[in-house]
Amino acid sequence: MTHPALEPGRIGPLHLRNRIVKTATFEGMTPQGRVTSRLVEHHAAFARRKVGLSTVAYGAVEREGRTFEHQLVVDGEARDGLARLARAVHREGDAVSLQLSHCGGFTKVARPVKGPSPGFNPYGIAAGRGWVRAMEEADLDRVEAAFVRAATVARDAGFDAVELHLGHGYLLSQFLSPVLNRRRDRYGGDLEGRLRFPLRVVTRVVDAVADRLAVLCKINVDDGVAGGLDPAEAAQVAVALEAAGVHGIVTSGGLVQRSAFFLLRGEVPLRAMARHEDGLLQRWAMRGLGRIFVPSYPWSPGFFLESGRHIVEAVRIPVVALGGLDGAHTLRRAAEAGYRFFALGRALLADPDFVERLERGEEPTSRCDHCNLCVAAMDEGVRCVRFERPKSAEDRARRAATP
Ligand SMILES: Cc1cc2nc3c(=O)[nH]c(=O)nc-3n(C[C@H](O)[C@H](O)[C@H](O)COP(=O)(O)O)c2cc1C
Repeated sequence: MTHPALEPGRIGPLHLRNRIVKTATFEGMTPQGRVTSRLVEHHAAFARRKVGLSTVAYGAVEREGRTFEHQLVVDGEARDGLARLARAVHREGDAVSLQLSHCGGFTKVARPVKGPSPGFNPYGIAAGRGWVRAMEEADLDRVEAAFVRAATVARDAGFDAVELHLGHGYLLSQFLSPVLNRRRDRYGGDLEGRLRFPLRVVTRVVDAVADRLAVLCKINVDDGVAGGLDPAEAAQVAVALEAAGVHGIVTSGGLVQRSAFFLLRGEVPLRAMARHEDGLLQRWAMRGLGRIFVPSYPWSPGFFLESGRHIVEAVRIPVVALGGLDGAHTLRRAAEAGYRFFALGRALLADPDFVERLERGEEPTSRCDHCNLCVAAMDEGVRCVRFERPKSAEDRARRAATP
């Protein structure tokens, strides 16, 4: 019998050859925020290996929406590069999605730093960006317009889908999270208030592009911190998004600024993370204090499947399972629980032939052992560090020289 993940599927206007989504894993291939040949080839390669939908990671909707310098900026200048990427993926028979995000108060580059509520931004202290100001009405209007503009850039570049980032502690998740949103105006307080700004953004994007593009929202099923968004509230968020016209919900969790490894689980590779910090002080802080400030969480297969169950029961649009989908068996478990699509990150980095093996009727299980060295080294080009083939000096030089 065909594996359920290999059935063709539909998300809004988008028809997919199968139900496997390559989820966003920051590629580290957008120096100064621009599309490179290396990024194009990275996604074309997943397409060649038969995934159904490949997701380009973290497209900042404006320059001030970047957490760090080398994230993709989705503005008019990016359109030609993105169009080249979309064409390359389409040539391989795959569809392509662009993740759209804004960092809000979690950034090393924005100035001034603005989020839903005033407070500290420890991530930006060494860069002189340690203090967050509260967004005012004009900021909300500007960011809303930036999301719409970026979605139209994706559409005009020939993308098939956009994934709006409402999770992981970025701006729209900062509004949704009761621990990060302490506003007393109509954009804070109860869930209706915390949803107001994210819903404004989503509704405008849906109005602008949903006739042509699938509009997905990546949300937290659980913030993973005391007092944060929990699975029951997350289900209400999903219902509101469905009513706003969204075509699919991607279920993740965690706040990168408080519980980064809640969304990954497994090892916290502190030494490798310290090596990739910019400054001596940050390197020292990561090695010395990382154990305290970067908690680890045990990994288990399909680690968000249970928390996302409320969402599967609450909405009729497709729900995309995510988190620790490590093999044919776990995908089947997700399908039985009612998830209609399956997003894989590290498993596809470690085993790019995963879908082809499913197609051959095998029961693949990923080699990924959640060492998370891929996360520590993502800035130099994301890949499975554990199982990468040893590179010759010549290969390394060629990779470093490829724009
Ligand atoms: C190297 C790496 C980079 C990531 N970058 C992003 C990102 O840019 N945007 C995002 O929403 N999630 C990002 N994630 C999280 C993944 O999308 C996904 O939520 C997480 O890896 C769990 O899925 P998995 O168990 O299949 O890897 C990243 C994960 C990894 C491993």
